Amino acid sequence: MELGLAGRVAVVSGGASNIGRAISLALAAEGASVAILDLDAEQAERVAGTARSCGAGDALAVRADITDPGGLAAAVAAVTDGMGPVEVLVNNAGWARRSRFLDQDPAESLKLIEINLIGTMNLTRAVLPAMVKRRSGSVVSIGSDAGRIGEKQEGAYGAAKAGVISLSKTLAREYGRSGVRFNVVCPGATVPDLPEHVSGSSLWNQEEYSVYRDPATQDAIARHYPLGRLGRPEDVAGAVCFLASERAAFITGQTLSVSGGYTMS
Ligand SMILES: NC(=O)c1ccc[n+]([C@@H]2O[C@H](COP(=O)([O-])OP(=O)(O)OC[C@H]3O[C@@H](n4cnc5c(N)ncnc54)[C@H](O)[C@@H]3O)[C@@H](O)[C@H]2O)c1
Repeated sequence: MELGLAGRVAVVSGGASNIGRAISLALAAEGASVAILDLDAEQAERVAGTARSCGAGDALAVRADITDPGGLAAAVAAVTDGMGPVEVLVNNAGWARRSRFLDQDPAESLKLIEINLIGTMNLTRAVLPAMVKRRSGSVVSIGSDAGRIGEKQEGAYGAAKAGVISLSKTLAREYGRSGVRFNVVCPGATVPDLPEHVSGSSLWNQEEYSVYRDPATQDAIARHYPLGRLGRPEDVAGAVCFLASERAAFITGQTLSVSGGYTMS
C-alpha cells in the first residue's frame, strides 16, 4: 500500500531508542523527512544518519526535553526552519518504573506523569497551532496496554498512559474540523533487538528491566499473548506509519493495541 508519506515532515519524540528508533526509520523508509527529538543527542544523530541512508527525504537530530515547554518551542522552530512545517507528530518519548503503588516514592510517580502525560501535552501544544493553521496534521501518541487495562506495578505509569488516551480523544473531538487527527498506539512488551538500538536515557538501561532480556521471562510473557510472542519495534512502527498517513484519513480518536492480542476491546 502506498502510504503517501514521502516528503512529509514528521517529528518523533524519543526517536533515538527502541520503538521510537523503529518509528523514525520506518517513516524514513517511506520517504518522510524525520526529526528525531530526544534527550540523547548523540544517539539521535546516529539514528538520523541511519534514516538518511534508508531513504528519508531529510533527517534531523534535535536535542530536547519534552518536560521543558520553552526548549520545545525552540526545538520545533528549528525543525520548521530546517525542514518545513510539521505534518506528523509522534508522541513516543516515555519513561517507566515498576513498583507497587505504596512502595513508589511520590516524586517518582510525579516524574512518570510529567514525562508520559505532561510531556505529551507540551509537545502537542508546541506543534498543534501550526497544524490547525494549515488545517492538516496527524498526531499519533504511544500509549500502553497498562493504560487500557491496568497492570500490576504500573499505577502511575498506567494512569499517565490512560491520560494520553483520554487527551487524544478530546483533541480528536476539538480539532477534527481543523483537519487534525489524533490516535494512540499501545504496544505490548517490546524488548530492544540490540543494545545499540537503545539510547543512553532509555528505560531499558534500568537494572529492573534486564529481566526482560531473559528468554524464560520472555516465554512467560508470550504465553499471555494470543500470537505467542513478544512485540518487535517494527510491529509498532507499521501501525504508527499507517495512522500517520492519509490512508487513515477517516480514523481519529482511536486506540490501537499492537500487543499480539493481549488486549482486546
Ligand atoms: N517497550 C515496551 O515494552 C513498551 C510497552 C508499552 C508502551 N511503551 C511505550 O513506548 C514508548 C517507547 O518505549 P521504548 O521501549 O522505546 O523506550 P526507551 O526508553 O527505549 O525510549 C524512550 C526514549 O524517550 C526519550 N525520552 C525520555 N524522556 C524524555 C524527555 N523528557 N524528553 C525527550 N526524550 C525523552 C529517551 O531518551 C529514549 O530515547 C514509551 O512511551 C513507552 O512508554 C513501551
